[in-house]
Amino acid sequence: MNTLSLFVLLVSIFLVTKLYDRGCQAQRGLPSNGFSSVFSSYINGILDCVDGRDAIRRACSKYGNELFTFCQLGNWVVLVHTPHHLRDLCNASEDILSMEGAAAELLQLGNTVGPEFGETYHIPVIRTSMNLHMAQLLPSILNEMECCFKRYVDTRLVGGEWTPFKALDTLSRMMCQTSNRAFVGLPLCRNEEYIDVTSRFASQVLFAGSIMKMLVPRMLRKPIGLIYRSIYRHHRRILKLAKPIIEERKKERHFSKEHPTEDMIGWLLDAASDSDEFEPSAESLAMRLLNVNFVALHTTTKIFVHALYHLAANPQYILELRQEAEQLLDKDHPDRWSKEALGRCVKLDSFFKETLRVNVISALTLPRLAVKDFRFSDGTQVSAGHYVACASEAVQRDSKVYPSPDEFRPFRFVVPTSEEEHSLQGWPNRMTSTSETFPAFGGGRHLCPGRFFAAMVMKMFMAYLVLNYDVKMPRDGVRPADEWLGPLCSPATRAHVLFRKRQVL
Ligand code: HEM
Repeated sequence: MNTLSLFVLLVSIFLVTKLYDRGCQAQRGLPSNGFSSVFSSYINGILDCVDGRDAIRRACSKYGNELFTFCQLGNWVVLVHTPHHLRDLCNASEDILSMEGAAAELLQLGNTVGPEFGETYHIPVIRTSMNLHMAQLLPSILNEMECCFKRYVDTRLVGGEWTPFKALDTLSRMMCQTSNRAFVGLPLCRNEEYIDVTSRFASQVLFAGSIMKMLVPRMLRKPIGLIYRSIYRHHRRILKLAKPIIEERKKERHFSKEHPTEDMIGWLLDAASDSDEFEPSAESLAMRLLNVNFVALHTTTKIFVHALYHLAANPQYILELRQEAEQLLDKDHPDRWSKEALGRCVKLDSFFKETLRVNVISALTLPRLAVKDFRFSDGTQVSAGHYVACASEAVQRDSKVYPSPDEFRPFRFVVPTSEEEHSLQGWPNRMTSTSETFPAFGGGRHLCPGRFFAAMVMKMFMAYLVLNYDVKMPRDGVRPADEWLGPLCSPATRAHVLFRKRQVL
């Protein structure tokens, strides 16, 4: 077979596979942005890849309150952008609009990490054990955070000089080590190789997965996934490092009912014994650790770095946050900070909520695969096999809800209220509360169970930072532009932030 025939054969296989995939076709009966034939929609897909966020925004304002289908490279998606449609999406059951089905197909993690990656027994553990133990966890996480600032920042600062730090790289290692104090404990959370694998895992597999979804025909995904896995070996590498600790925890549990070590490994083992299930194997637990790190790290790190860029470009905010932190937290003894005191830092909370509103992880969130035909409450139908998602960036920048929606107003959510209303329960504007106009943590049955942990970690990092350092951008007042790839958004990956030990009082 000559090269041309081989090429024609491969292209035909590719197109035939695509033609059979209904997610690649616009939903009939709904308006669609651009061309809707399978071939021409690829042109749209390429354009939207370059111009993703603006294309979504334009389409949302063009179609008003209507649902429409939006073309992405590799699939079409029905976009939801009004509160009532979002409510319908969140209320739909998993066997009609499936998150797991959408994630498996869109992220391709079963191929890039392994088929067991999609198991979900860590989710109730985060929702219950981890959230219940948050106050007890705090001292050890605070201790780890201080170690990180000493290890990654203080060792590089010279006298009172401004020193540049590559923000995303530095913070992703610091967040990884600190969060993993709660996931795997000491000493593994400080292990260089462990930090290396877990902190880069999400970006590596998300990139590989989207390439696979967009360009690799269905029938070739398994073999290509096997090759990818044999090169990156994420699961094998975590297993090698975590297995001795997992075995030790299992032994501890056999000998005594008292478990001195509280972390994700222990809670996962407890959950299995509580429900009389078989004890999960080290292989299975290592896969859960990868999954927990996947959902926890890239989200928290990106949002924190977005917030840091806002702060460093606007040093006047540092003084306000510092003043609040000094009133509520003991600067010289972070080990005495409590969950309640961090909770009362309303300006800090609003700063992160505004960051989550303005700087999304993706302009499209809550992806769902219609497993059966689904009807929205206004009667619009989506047929089985099509994708639905929320245009969350457009929702969170709706001028009817948020005045001057494109402006970053850090204290937008600090509403003057009485002392009593500032109590944790009575404060509806806190960053972890969700609504149809603020879906940063999702909604409905898949609402993010890790949001309390994320909020606590980001707030303690920022409080420590403003109490101990001054920060600014290399070019005064200039925030580095976000980086977009299709709907995905990252804070500038190569930008530096200048740090020095606190001098301004
Ligand atoms: C700023 C940080 C975070 C953001 C913005 C975020 C956002 C989200 C969103 C939007 C969803 C819903 C996805 C959907 O419905 O399709 C979600 C789900 C989830 N998140 Fe988070 N998340 C963050 C941090 C975390 C952390 C720290 C953890 C774990 C410790 C975590 C664990 C999870 C899990 C397990 C789910 C799936 C829940 C389910 O399927 O029922 N997240 N997150």
